Amino acid sequence: MYVKLNKWINFGDLSLKSTTMELPIAESWKIKMVEHIRTSTREEREQWIKDAHYNLFQLPADQVYIDCLTDSGTGAMSDRQWAALMMGDESYAGSRSFYELKDVITRLTGFEYVIPTHQGRAAENVLFSHLVKEGDIVPGNSHFDTTKGHIESRKATALDCTIDEAKNTQLELPFKGNVDIAKLEKALAENGDKVAFIVVTVTNNTAGGQPVSMENLKEVRRVADKYGKRVILDSARFAENAYFIKTREEGYADKTIKEIAREMFSYADGMTMSAKKDGIVNMGGFIATRHEDWYEGAKKYCIPFEGYLTYGGMNGRDMAALAVGLDENTEFDNLDTRIRQVQYLASRLDEFGIPYQRPVGGHAIFVDAGLVLTKVPKEEFPAQTLAIELYKEAGVRGCEIGYILADRDPVTRENRFGGMDLLRLCIARRVYTNNHMDVIAVALKNVFDRRESITHGYKIVWETELMRHFTVQLEPIQ
Ligand code: F0G
Repeated sequence: MYVKLNKWINFGDLSLKSTTMELPIAESWKIKMVEHIRTSTREEREQWIKDAHYNLFQLPADQVYIDCLTDSGTGAMSDRQWAALMMGDESYAGSRSFYELKDVITRLTGFEYVIPTHQGRAAENVLFSHLVKEGDIVPGNSHFDTTKGHIESRKATALDCTIDEAKNTQLELPFKGNVDIAKLEKALAENGDKVAFIVVTVTNNTAGGQPVSMENLKEVRRVADKYGKRVILDSARFAENAYFIKTREEGYADKTIKEIAREMFSYADGMTMSAKKDGIVNMGGFIATRHEDWYEGAKKYCIPFEGYLTYGGMNGRDMAALAVGLDENTEFDNLDTRIRQVQYLASRLDEFGIPYQRPVGGHAIFVDAGLVLTKVPKEEFPAQTLAIELYKEAGVRGCEIGYILADRDPVTRENRFGGMDLLRLCIARRVYTNNHMDVIAVALKNVFDRRESITHGYKIVWETELMRHFTVQLEPIQ
């Protein structure tokens, strides 16, 4: 019998509604290879985290069940990327893979000059060696810690000009990663002569993977031009940023991710890139710019620090895989799968009432530890405490983006408690399924439910001067 859908149909006395359901959106890929992961007991994890001095970076990865430490270099490459590896040209100079990579980068960004580096911080090191000197100021939106490190280690200042709203995790704004144009303009008006350049991080990792709007990028460009300054995009997650512009900003819904990315870069003078994120490779990075003088300046540092100009710290095969990865990850379906998964996890946390930086960003959930562990004083590092509790609960490894990461003030040597204290749960690209998301959500719920009983945190017993969070050693406060 032929039944017309979406119509009321009568079978004698029976009246029933037949509806066409909206099709769910599944992943834009299928799985060809899998990797075994092991579970563990709470007793094992309690011992392991103690052995690791309560620093999750110090845990051997085999002691982790679901690894949300970072989305950096942890993505799954596609079959096309693995195929490209085999075609890599390992020539020391003039590698074909370099030229292929350069062509893709120029096509996506409009930047003609490209220098490969072994990862993002190496790109910063090479370019900033040319651009940053003692006493300089580099305004930006919540500089990532390596970016800040490369500025501060040169005795310059990383001036945070992020919009104040970013600090209120419960406020819903579409572009919470934006630069506060008034703060930027003030910095330029007062200290323009000291400003080396402006750096805009897309997406804004430290503020919670929050995007920057095209409007904001245009405004930064306008102010930069007014004061004769140049702009660098810290582009680790530029494709995710483009996705948010497409889905949230008026006028971009019908544009492709590639068109949006190209427009984003049109407002910048150059970029540093950690290819381990939106390039979906396990290692790699690059500098790209439209200015010959920046290229010439950076070249001088690339050779001694990274390697010859056509490999700069990368294997030929890795450059080949990166060229494919950049192309693939600037297609809508790939980004849509990824960001929907992060949004799925966020929706589970909403069910349980767990507070995180809203609306959820592109690569991670940032749980607001201050709102969860209200009994743990900030001097005892609530976000780190929450990270340890979550690990003990289910072997889920997150990362503190908070007071430990913030390091000490370089002048006063006091801990910096002015920023946010978040537990970041990064989602690796194309690696976990939504069942893993459910484990993370339920584990966090269990910790959340007993939050009132967590009254003490941790104290630092050993630390380094810069970027202490990787190696810091802690002890529980009883
Ligand atoms: N810029 C941003 C915005 C980053 O998130 C990172 C790295 C870098 C630069 C440095 O790149 O690691 O390739 O040297 N972020 C990682 C993270 C480590 O976990 O967020 P890298």
